[in-house]
Amino acid sequence: MFTRVKGFRDIFGDEIPYWHKVEKSFHKVFKRYEYTEFKLPVLEKVEVFQRGIGDTTDIVEKEMFVFDDKGGDRLALRPEGTASIVRGYIENRLYTGNAIAKYYYYGPMFRRERPQKGRFRQFYQVGIEAFGSSAPSLDAEVIKTMQDIFDECGILDIVSLNINSIGCPKCRPLYKEKLISYLTDKKDQLCDDCLNRLNRNPLRVLDCKIDRCKSATRNAPKMVDHLCDECNSHFEKTKQFLTFFNIKFNIDPFMVRGLDYYVKTAFEFVTDRLGASSAVGGGGRYDGLIKTLGGPDIPGIGYAIGVDRLVTLMMEKNIPVNRTKKVFVVFFEETFKEGFEMIELLRKNDISTGFDYEFGNFKNQFKKADRNSADWVIIIGTSEKERGIVQLKDMKTGVQFEVKKEEIIEKLTL
Ligand code: HAM
Repeated sequence: MFTRVKGFRDIFGDEIPYWHKVEKSFHKVFKRYEYTEFKLPVLEKVEVFQRGIGDTTDIVEKEMFVFDDKGGDRLALRPEGTASIVRGYIENRLYTGNAIAKYYYYGPMFRRERPQKGRFRQFYQVGIEAFGSSAPSLDAEVIKTMQDIFDECGILDIVSLNINSIGCPKCRPLYKEKLISYLTDKKDQLCDDCLNRLNRNPLRVLDCKIDRCKSATRNAPKMVDHLCDECNSHFEKTKQFLTFFNIKFNIDPFMVRGLDYYVKTAFEFVTDRLGASSAVGGGGRYDGLIKTLGGPDIPGIGYAIGVDRLVTLMMEKNIPVNRTKKVFVVFFEETFKEGFEMIELLRKNDISTGFDYEFGNFKNQFKKADRNSADWVIIIGTSEKERGIVQLKDMKTGVQFEVKKEEIIEKLTL
């Protein structure tokens, strides 16, 4: 027997209606805010992510699935969508004209992380990216779209929004120096990973989940206290717009995010219901990224939601979802014509309809209807055929009654 690759999973059965609910919700919400869908390739040249996400991030250093293609390219299964869509935005010259470009994408991402609750090596993200404005009202609107999706999916009460400003290339280097000097004094308390991060990517130390690192960084200098005037004003205005939009938030001065392209606003919706994997969605501004990847100097902002995590929360909360109601048609050789006509009529009316391919006896057909979890069974025997009616049985209540053929669709309360 073959088994799944570690960290990869099969998704089927009772989970599927939740995925469909999420999909319906985000298509609806993004339409409200003028986002259109962008279908991205799953493979990119590895440099797109190395340059885009940053060489010293965990994703690029150790989590990408990379392979050499026979054509000579080194390719990576996408670990996220932002670098990829920026590549597409530049390559397709979508920046010509002045309009803000707003896109959303949905699909599997791949990261070779250690699997645990809410953390997989293939997971699904739905994300948005808005290119062409550096205005803080856009930051707040972007966050609002994520809140709207959580609202549509029924989990808004179990997530909370954390925001931070992580400065820009003007103010961050000075802050970094201060942070490095603070952390150097605490060196003996840091874990091996953080010792490594200390000079390469010191902000990541603030994000470490290990207790002794957490206590070492408790009084560390905060980026929000070292912002330049522009970043500070951007942060203040973003907070004001969030308040206008009735969005509650906490300021988390140690949230740094795991990707290097961010400037100014960073945000995450977190929950305490997913163990260590607390973020259901996260994003931020990345004003220099389009230029870094070879395009014009155009600002951008976006986020991604982890759909696997969102679905887990919805299932734990027992959010109501539409289960497809099913009809099973029981008929016999003498009533083939009437049986198949009925099946066709039901299917034309978008009703989920099954029958016994083996045409067993009455008892066997009913058994199959039961195993098929049919909500209704329609029976067409010779006497029903002669009288132009069918028997309709409600499988939940066991009640059976006669219905005229032409009234069957309206009688089925699905
Ligand atoms: P990220 O924070 O790396 O951001 O991922 C976004 C979300 O994807 C996380 O909050 C989490 O819900 C989900 N996620 C990440 N890794 C896993 C995993 N291994 N298993 C299950 N779910 C996972 C980004 O990817 C950025 N590209 C977001 C963005 C868009 N920023 C600007 N634009």
